[in-house]
Amino acid sequence: MTHAEAKNRHAQLVKEIRKHDDAYYVEAAPKISDRDYDRLYHELLELEKEFPGLAAPDSPSQRVGGSPLSAFKSVRHSVPMLSLDNTYSEEQIRDFVKRLEKLLPGEKLDWIVEPKVDGVAISLRYENGVLVTGATRGNGTEGDDVTANLKTIRSVPLSLKFGHRGTEAQRKEKDLSEENPVSLRLGGKIPSPLEVRGEVFMPIAGFEKLNAERKAAGEELYGNPRNTAAGSLKQLDPKIVATRPLDVVIYGIAELGAQIVASQSELLAWLKKLGFKTPEKIWHCHSTEELIAAIHELDQIRKKFPYETDGAVIKLNSFAQRERAGFTAKAPRWAIAYKYAPEQAETKLNSITIQVGRTGALTPVAELEPVFLAGSTIGRATLHNEDYIREKDIRLGDTVTIEKAGEVIPAVVNVVLKKRGGGEKKFNFPKTCPECGSKVAKEIGGDEEEGSVWRCVNPDCPAQIRGRIEHFCSRGAMDIEGGGEVLAAQLVKNNLVRDVADLYSLKLEDVANLERMAEKSARNFLDALAASKSRDLWRLIFGLGILHVGAGVAKSLARHFPTLDDIFAANAEQLAEAEDIGEVIAQSLVNWHGDARNQKLIERLRAAGLNFRSELFQPRAKAGPFAGKTFVLTGTLPTLKREEAAAKIESLGGKVSGSVSQKTDFVVAGEEAGSKLDKAQKLGVKIIDEQEFLKMCGAD
Ligand code: IVH
Repeated sequence: MTHAEAKNRHAQLVKEIRKHDDAYYVEAAPKISDRDYDRLYHELLELEKEFPGLAAPDSPSQRVGGSPLSAFKSVRHSVPMLSLDNTYSEEQIRDFVKRLEKLLPGEKLDWIVEPKVDGVAISLRYENGVLVTGATRGNGTEGDDVTANLKTIRSVPLSLKFGHRGTEAQRKEKDLSEENPVSLRLGGKIPSPLEVRGEVFMPIAGFEKLNAERKAAGEELYGNPRNTAAGSLKQLDPKIVATRPLDVVIYGIAELGAQIVASQSELLAWLKKLGFKTPEKIWHCHSTEELIAAIHELDQIRKKFPYETDGAVIKLNSFAQRERAGFTAKAPRWAIAYKYAPEQAETKLNSITIQVGRTGALTPVAELEPVFLAGSTIGRATLHNEDYIREKDIRLGDTVTIEKAGEVIPAVVNVVLKKRGGGEKKFNFPKTCPECGSKVAKEIGGDEEEGSVWRCVNPDCPAQIRGRIEHFCSRGAMDIEGGGEVLAAQLVKNNLVRDVADLYSLKLEDVANLERMAEKSARNFLDALAASKSRDLWRLIFGLGILHVGAGVAKSLARHFPTLDDIFAANAEQLAEAEDIGEVIAQSLVNWHGDARNQKLIERLRAAGLNFRSELFQPRAKAGPFAGKTFVLTGTLPTLKREEAAAKIESLGGKVSGSVSQKTDFVVAGEEAGSKLDKAQKLGVKIIDEQEFLKMCGAD
């Protein structure tokens, strides 16, 4: 095949595949069989293998590309991504409308009601009709660059329809025949850049399938579609993201841009035309009564949507009016979210069991007559603590109301007193740990409400050990795939593991010999353990399960201190110098490390080769000789280990970076320095060797 022929065929294939992607993923109306689609796709890949120049960034082959990242870059949003004020009653909706009528006196107002998709807000930036950047909301001003991950979502168009590719004639035909006012106004052109906003979600069906697969594999189950979508977008390896059934809805653009579109209804029609998936259904309303009716109607049908909706969004339709209504610091004045009441169900409380958590907390769990609620069958719900049961006078045999409020764990909210028959029995909260028989005590602390939680005082309680192992392995902490509830329980039961350091001396046969454990899963688990040794320090800090030290606190510690040793060398006062660390947390850290057993644990984790250095550490501009200077280390230095060199730089107030840029002041190069050295030379960054470096340090 000549290059010209290949190019022709390639263009044809791209067009075909795009058409079918759109039919399948956006319109949900496939036109060919999966097999035929795969055939086209395969041909495209083969062609691009032979003629690599053909693989343009918006080729369908580029959806799953690239290697795993080490971290996400930050992106500054061209226009901040704000949030919405919430309302919970019709009354508040009336107030909202009145507020706007006052703000825009004498004007006729019309509204669009959209489903509030329960997902993760994202922003997509197109230049000349081609997707260049996709970002998460982050703090609203700056988010993570998750372009590679978003590209794996088939309903995210890599290039827009009737963009730079469409011929004049095609654009004209389409736009004029369908009387699209926006395209007419734009003369068939797509503005560039164009930044659209929407929500990534995991369809409920996809979520359930994913969990069914995990259950079959004995893996920890995901909590809910929203968190799973959020967790998926945070994966550093786009290949993993590609396996997650994610989808997207687009409902806005960054610029109000009245010059592009005049109203929300126009915008949505135009976005659809460009190839975006837009909200399932919208309502165009002209009065408060119509708004309320729309919200009721949405509530009736939202359970049939492929995604979870937690409310409705009411938006002023006209963009000119939006511009006049303006924004508060956090949210637009022209829109509001209405949140539906969490779903409730009534069922019988059969019995109460006690769960012992990793901090020893005794949590009463309601064992219920199974009942269907918000998409799943519920058999258990939390009762929080002893005081809760007493205050609500919850008795065994009662009919209770349970609720699922966007939370993973359903809760018992009250007793249906009129259904009480008289045979119900008060529940006696146990005075010893149901797991190990030890004493229980009410201590201040824990993540639960202070003072109302009974805790098992025995640190060797098997339930606590299990909980600690499970927590250490969990996705939010050390992220050790396979180390879920089931495996943790087996490891503890078989005396293979008594604390988290024991995990690192597990042998393949130890794990493979466990009940219902295949050799392949055992091997995967050991690989995951090995990989976890180089996790970011904050994950380890969080994973240790120290009272009051959540992920946020762990990150804050890792930003303030360069190593784990520095954290444990600090006294309470020094710890409290870190952001968001108060007296209670500081004391809890000191107490934890004051325990000789924990000190031993840390030493064993060190010996196992776990990373104790913080990637997040930001030295405060110290008055040291290296203040404000950025160093990059590359190659093998003759005497200093990389860590030692880094510690020296940081102790003198300098910063160590992993990559060379214009901002780099010095590159310390050793033997076999590679691309970083080349780049430094190219950029004219000063390159020094170890000897010179030591001299600068005022060498000892
Ligand atoms: S409009 C200026 N429309 O809800 C903010 N948001 O609680 C405009 N959301 O951050 C947002 N569905 O992530 C809008 N149809 C919809 C939405 C929607 C879900 C999310 C979005 C936003 C959050 C606010």
